[in-house]
Amino acid sequence: MKNVDQNTITQAVLERMGNMPDARLKTIVTSLVHHLHDFAREVQLTEQELMHAIEFLTQTGQKCDDKRQEFILLSDVLGLSMLTVAMNNQKPAGCTEATVFGPFFVEGAPKVALGGDVAQGAPGQPCSVSGRVVGSRGQPVVHALIEVWQADEEGFYDVQRPELRAPQARASMQADGDGRFHFKTIVAEAYPIPTDGPVGALLRAMGRHPWRPAHLHFMIKAPGFETLITHVFRNGDQYLESDAVFGVRESLIADWVKQPDGNTLLQFDFVLNESHD
Ligand SMILES: [Fe+2]
Repeated sequence: MKNVDQNTITQAVLERMGNMPDARLKTIVTSLVHHLHDFAREVQLTEQELMHAIEFLTQTGQKCDDKRQEFILLSDVLGLSMLTVAMNNQKPAGCTEATVFGPFFVEGAPKVALGGDVAQGAPGQPCSVSGRVVGSRGQPVVHALIEVWQADEEGFYDVQRPELRAPQARASMQADGDGRFHFKTIVAEAYPIPTDGPVGALLRAMGRHPWRPAHLHFMIKAPGFETLITHVFRNGDQYLESDAVFGVRESLIADWVKQPDGNTLLQFDFVLNESHD
């Protein structure tokens, strides 16, 4: 097709994809082209603005390395991560809700025995966490694999501290034969998502703050159950209503109870959905 104009270009691109062998990819790319073109027409995108967008995405990619994931941050602050989580994790009532994965998970976290220390020297006030992993009928999820990761009292994850030689405030453990778990750690504090990259610049341009309310991250896996990726948020945090990544669910907010001896206790049970594949 020759002489495409601003209205016929969309159809011209779609016709060029007529032989795509992957049906799902074809669905996705077709919709992407439709929406991208409609978006450009709607805002009357200028050439300068397109180049600016390309530079922004280039910088986003260049900011990524094995410890920094700027594209996840971008998806998070635009609400795309939480939208995708919400669409793909509609569980029966009573199951623990999922929320965003975030950019700070690391494969191969240290294995910690039940009752062990997850903090491994990370700065913070002492905190004891306990709970139970059960299925939707209340049955114990025996030896569920639990991954936990969190920020320290200064609001940093270990991967944001280049001086560290070993992981801190992240661990992998197994629940006992009754689905129960407990571990020692530090009290997680609210933190700003990293603002020294293009996503930070975008937040400033949007007039938005970068803060996330205090939370622990959990990923829980067990055969016969859907993997649960979620957080437990700290009740009373000032950012629960304005989480920079839209991840807060009411059902995931828990009381972190300060004890007279200075320790904080957190108790939270997780209910996994049985998998049906
Ligand atoms: Fe986090």
